[in-house]
Amino acid sequence: MSFDSQKFATRLQNVETSAIRELFKLLGKPGIISFAGGFPDPALFDVEGISMASTDVLRDAGGAVLQYGATEGYGPAKEAISRFMKAKGSLVEASELIVTTGSQQALDLLGKTLISPGDKIIVEAPTFLATIQCFKLYGAEIIGAPTDSNGVDVEALEHLIQEHQPKFVYLIPTFGNPSGATLTLERRKKVLDLALQYKTLVIEDDPYGELYFDQAPPPSLLSLSANRPELRDYLIHCGSFSKILSPGLRVGWLIAPAELLAKATMCKQFSDAHTSNLTQAIAARYLEMGRLDACLSKVRQVYAERAKTMVSGLQTQLGDAIKMTAPQGGMFVWAQLTQGRNSNLFAAKAIEQLVAFVPGAPFYAHTPNTSTLRLSFATANLSQIEEGISRMALALKAYDAER
Ligand SMILES: Cc1ncc(COP(=O)(O)O)c(C=O)c1O
Repeated sequence: MSFDSQKFATRLQNVETSAIRELFKLLGKPGIISFAGGFPDPALFDVEGISMASTDVLRDAGGAVLQYGATEGYGPAKEAISRFMKAKGSLVEASELIVTTGSQQALDLLGKTLISPGDKIIVEAPTFLATIQCFKLYGAEIIGAPTDSNGVDVEALEHLIQEHQPKFVYLIPTFGNPSGATLTLERRKKVLDLALQYKTLVIEDDPYGELYFDQAPPPSLLSLSANRPELRDYLIHCGSFSKILSPGLRVGWLIAPAELLAKATMCKQFSDAHTSNLTQAIAARYLEMGRLDACLSKVRQVYAERAKTMVSGLQTQLGDAIKMTAPQGGMFVWAQLTQGRNSNLFAAKAIEQLVAFVPGAPFYAHTPNTSTLRLSFATANLSQIEEGISRMALALKAYDAER
């Protein structure tokens, strides 16, 4: 039996199964050390706090949180997200956001509401793979803007906007996935100027902004728009509790101009009707309990140490075969092999040595840089990181011997 592929919608023709998912099939090998995933460390979830919050909401609002709910989101959760955003300098009222089932759903709703087949969209090269695939599913032509360790090259971005008049620009300005890069304050201001000058929508995807190491990153594009209200017609912001509280709660949010938010809400009705009231209520109660700060300081400290160990390990053990910029936050080290080495071939050798990372090519919408790779430092402990990098050094020897 084989399913007749003619039956699939034509929109699927442009989208392939993610290379990362294919790679993940290999990760079941016993003894493998994986830097390939994009998950936060479950050992750092505040299970006790979330459990207390769950007990509270079921006791105090059992019927309401187990019932169907409003598509826009559960009232107390919207209020809690508004307070959370205000504390970060983004003046967002509860009425100006909707709660989504992870920020992934916010991105999907943006694809649904904004993209017509053939529309051009500018993203960073490299960018979050699921976004490339999601926007392609709606028929977008995706254009990659060059980036460096300070995020997107704003001059190149301006030229691309002039040339392509995109439907929107999608950016992960803070601790990008996969790049780990953070857009400088100066470049952020320039992006906002470009949005106004060219009347171009800019989507700011910000799931990692709270995961900083030594010092907080520059304010988000949304925060920077606080005293420039005219910008709000062009600015869309996606947020999420996935990387700071728990991805399993599936609570994210979308902040957008009112007309767009209304259309996104309509589309969400056909998609999942609403995000789980129960998990929204748990997240809201958790924030009220005031435990997030302590939990986040721990996460920041642990990730900072792991990132440092990973970067120094790569530098000492792989030497001039690899280049990278040390990330200042987030979950990823983005690195580049030197002297024409290919990260796909290196990844295959690494799997033989029982260590995994993701070759960088799938993170490019087009013209991939095949020497790049993404390593996550979030889930491995320090000795696993050291051991994993020693295995990478062995893999490199094996790879170089065959070149
Ligand atoms: C840049 C970026 N955006 C969005 C998401 C989606 O996260 P969630 O749907 O869990 O909020 C992720 C998850 O890895 C991500 O890296």
